[in-house]
Amino acid sequence: MESRSAGLTLRGLLRVAKRSAKAALRPLSSRPTTRAKLVRDLRHLGVRPGALLLVHSSLSALGFVPGGPRTVIRALLEALGPEGTLVIPTHSWEEMAAGCRTFDVRRTGVCVGTIPDYFRSYPGVIRSLHPTHSVAALGPLAQWLTADHESSATPCGAGSPYAKLLDRDGQILFLGATLRSNTAYYTVEALGGAPHLMSGTPDRFTVIAEGGTRRELLIDRHRAGIPRRFEELEGWMTERGILRAGQVGPARSLLIAGTPFRDALTEAVRNDPTFLLVRSQEVPAR
Ligand SMILES: CC(C)(COP(=O)(O)OP(=O)(O)OC[C@H]1O[C@@H](n2cnc3c(N)ncnc32)[C@H](O)[C@@H]1OP(=O)(O)O)[C@@H](O)C(=O)NCCC(=O)NCCS
Repeated sequence: MESRSAGLTLRGLLRVAKRSAKAALRPLSSRPTTRAKLVRDLRHLGVRPGALLLVHSSLSALGFVPGGPRTVIRALLEALGPEGTLVIPTHSWEEMAAGCRTFDVRRTGVCVGTIPDYFRSYPGVIRSLHPTHSVAALGPLAQWLTADHESSATPCGAGSPYAKLLDRDGQILFLGATLRSNTAYYTVEALGGAPHLMSGTPDRFTVIAEGGTRRELLIDRHRAGIPRRFEELEGWMTERGILRAGQVGPARSLLIAGTPFRDALTEAVRNDPTFLLVRSQEVPAR
C-alpha cells in the first residue's frame, strides 16, 4: 500500500513537471496568438458584432496566448462590441455528482476549463444560480439571460439561459473545443421530450446568491452514463447550414447558428427521441 501511494506520488510529480515544462516552452513553440489576431479570426468565422454568443473553449488549443484567459475574454468582448452579450458555461456538475449539495455563486468552482473559471469573476459578470449548469454572462442581455435559471424544470431546457439564447438566434462558438462540449444538445433533448434526459429523482440543494441569501431548492439533474454521438453530427449540421468550421489562431473552431440549430435538432429529437444517442444503444432502465 505504501509503495503504491509512493508510486502515485511520483507519477503525480512527473505529471506536474511535464506540465510545467510544457508551459515554459509554450511561448517558444508557436507564434503568439494575440488579441488582434483572435478578433480578426472570430469575425472571419462569423461572430457577429452585437450577437448573443455562448462560448465553449480550450485555452491550450489556441497555442501561446500572451495574457492567457484575460486576452481571450477581451478579444471575445471586442469582437462582440458594446451591443453584444458574452455567455460562458460555468458548470459545476462534477462537484455535485461527487456529492456536494451547496452551490455558492461566489465560491463554487467550474469543471469546464480555465477560461470559464477566469470569466466567472470578471468585472460586471452575472452568474446564474443553477447548481450544475450555471452560465456567466456580460453585456446588455446578461441579466435577462441568467435570471431564474435555478427555477427551470431541467438544467438546459425551457426557461434556462441555453433555451433563451436559442430563441434569440444566439451563436454558439467552439473555440478550439469540439461538439462533445455542446451543452445545447441537452436543450433540444429537453424541448423535444427525450425520456432518458433526467434522473427523475430531484435532490435538495442549498443555493447561495451574490449577497449571501440562501435558498433550499429541489433540483433534478441530468441522468448520467448515457453516451451521446455529439461529435458525429458535425457533417449533418454543416449540410443544413447550421454550423461552419474555421480557424481561430491555430485552433480549429466551430460556429453554430442558434435558432436553425434549435429548430432542426428539436424536430429530429421529436421524431426519434434517441437521435442524439450513440446508435444501437439500449438505454438502461432506471
Ligand atoms: C476540457 C477542456 C476545457 C480542456 O481544454 P484545455 O485547453 O486542456 O484546458 P483549459 O482550457 O482549461 O486550459 C488549460 C491549458 O491551457 C494552458 N495554458 C496556460 N496558459 C496558457 C496561455 N497563455 N496560452 C495557451 N495555453 C495556456 C495550460 O497549460 C493548460 O494546458 P495543459 O493542460 O496542456 O497543461 C476542453 O477540451 C473542453 O472540453 N472545453 C469545453 C468545455 C465546456 O464548455 N464544456 C461544457 C459541457 S460539459
